[in-house]
Amino acid sequence: MYALGIETSCDETSAAVLTDRFEVLSNVILSQDEVHAPYGGVVPELASRQHIKTIDAVVGEALARAGVELKAIDLFAVTQGPGLVGSLLVGLSFAKGLAYYFKKPLVGIDHLEGHIEAAFLENRDIGFPALALLVSGGHTSLYLLEKKLSYRLLGKTRDDAAGEALDKVAKFLGLGYPGGPLIEKLAAKGDPTAFAFSRPRIKDAPLDFSFSGLKTAALKHIRESEISKEHPRLADFLAGFEEAVARSLVDNLARAVDEFGPKSLILCGGVARNTRLRARFRQFADRQKLPAFIPSPKMCTDNAAMVAALALEKRAAGIPMSVDLDLDAYPR
Ligand code: KG4
Ligand code: ZN
Repeated sequence: MYALGIETSCDETSAAVLTDRFEVLSNVILSQDEVHAPYGGVVPELASRQHIKTIDAVVGEALARAGVELKAIDLFAVTQGPGLVGSLLVGLSFAKGLAYYFKKPLVGIDHLEGHIEAAFLENRDIGFPALALLVSGGHTSLYLLEKKLSYRLLGKTRDDAAGEALDKVAKFLGLGYPGGPLIEKLAAKGDPTAFAFSRPRIKDAPLDFSFSGLKTAALKHIRESEISKEHPRLADFLAGFEEAVARSLVDNLARAVDEFGPKSLILCGGVARNTRLRARFRQFADRQKLPAFIPSPKMCTDNAAMVAALALEKRAAGIPMSVDLDLDAYPR
């Protein structure tokens, strides 16, 4: 039995083929970074146009790499939201067309649940309850999973997402887009203690995140120390900022661990590719003697394997499936 997943929620066009034993036969990800880089961020209209141009080829490539024909697909899965509505609609319309033509079930997938599923796809033995820290360009949230397919939101960002804060500081310094990986590279040899950043804590909601304060502190350092692309202390500054972002994420996780006593910890989303964050997360988990599950870097990025996997998970749980042509995209 084969599932085809499609993901077009933001600026990656992706398609993947999985077996019902959760084997990833293909997971093609086409990034639009080059299209958006000149603007320092994702331009929604360009993103949807680019998805329209490439989706057919990306799906074709995923099938070819898997060695599976379209007519052999038993289940179609597509990201429904949250994301850019125009981008989502491209994947959704394409998947609807396929499901209708082949008369096979179509499952709409939540993008955030998809990111969490990436951890389960690579580790079939995650113990419950699990705490999942989801860190991406659009979202920063903490979930409690009491069991499979159950997601209780414990906290979310009040302002910027962590990836968004990294991207904005990078844009401000003219480093390029996306900012997260560029900051990671430039910060690698920096001293994270050279610049002071105080970490936020929201009194009435200690599990909520906030990154606007850190961003303002970063802009203040940039102004006061005249940090630029060529500044000799650029690496120190970026290392300090990256460290503060990572630690503030782990701070909230620590509070949630105290409160909920989980059996395992999950880190996921695009920013989970970050080496420093992965290290801080693992160090914390080791101190707590809890197993840490972090998807491989490719699985942290927006991809369609996590989308197909979650659909298979729902099918295995006995959730009814049909060709639902009324499925609509949701931006939030
Ligand atoms: O999950 P994702 O691929 O797309 C969204 O759903 O948002 O995450 C994209 C975000 C961007 O903000 C990007 O700068 C960040 O993930 N990112 C990183 C790294 N790679 C991607 N941030 C820090 N370090 C990285 N290596
Ligand atoms: Zn994402």
